[in-house]
Amino acid sequence: MKKQNTSHAVMAKRFEENDSLDDFPTPPWATRALFESTLKKYKSKLKKMKCLEPACNRGYMSRALKEYFKKVDSRDVWDYGFGKVQNFLETKYEKNSFDWVITNPPFNLAEEFLIKSLNICSHGTAILARTVFLESVGRYKNIFSKNPPTYFAQFTERVPMIKGRVDKQASTATGYAWFIWIKNSKINSKLTWIEPCRKLLEKEFDYEDFDKTINPKRKKKNILRSQYKLF
Ligand SMILES: C[S@@+](CC[C@H](N)C(=O)[O-])C[C@H]1O[C@@H](n2cnc3c(N)ncnc32)[C@H](O)[C@@H]1O
Repeated sequence: MKKQNTSHAVMAKRFEENDSLDDFPTPPWATRALFESTLKKYKSKLKKMKCLEPACNRGYMSRALKEYFKKVDSRDVWDYGFGKVQNFLETKYEKNSFDWVITNPPFNLAEEFLIKSLNICSHGTAILARTVFLESVGRYKNIFSKNPPTYFAQFTERVPMIKGRVDKQASTATGYAWFIWIKNSKINSKLTWIEPCRKLLEKEFDYEDFDKTINPKRKKKNILRSQYKLF
């Protein structure tokens, strides 16, 4: 397993190291898009299910997941003031610990996150990743040739993700897709497109600074982090 450097020195750098934590929060509409498009027919079942978001960051994806699931467990290796602090790759879970695992993992560890997620979910795993996650000989050998996704859902709109915050005005040149595995599904690698939906799914409060709502005991830690320009 690749070792990650979570030291302050590495976190303080402004550019993305190979072993960076990939602090790129997800605009909530991109999470809603998963359930309002590709997974629409599963929506009513999800209301009784439990989901793990193992790389929850500041909780932008977790809060959107809560709109669809009965329970969402949120964790992250770094303390952003939301969820439990836990290294996903070093935590032991029983098989079927969660119905679903849904996240956008750090790109450099996405393969490891995916393999682990598939081992611990009973119903499915969905990974939001750059479209280029679909290529590479390594990923073909380790994942796609053995266990291809049920759906590959390409965003037709761009999903702007920027370092350390969500911003309604942000733009990006990067394409993103949802990679979805549903256990025991008869569908195999179905290519779908997520129709333009941003306007419809975006909510007024989506871009709020949730630092205001975090546990005051953890706020101190956050202030310390920003003093040291840790992201
Ligand atoms: C792209 S961000 C995820 C954004 C988040 N899902 C959201 O809703 O905004 C990647 C996250 O993975 C976390 N991370 C990196 N390595 C991790 C690990 N080994 N275990 C758990 N979380 C990890 C980082 O701290 C970072 O918050």
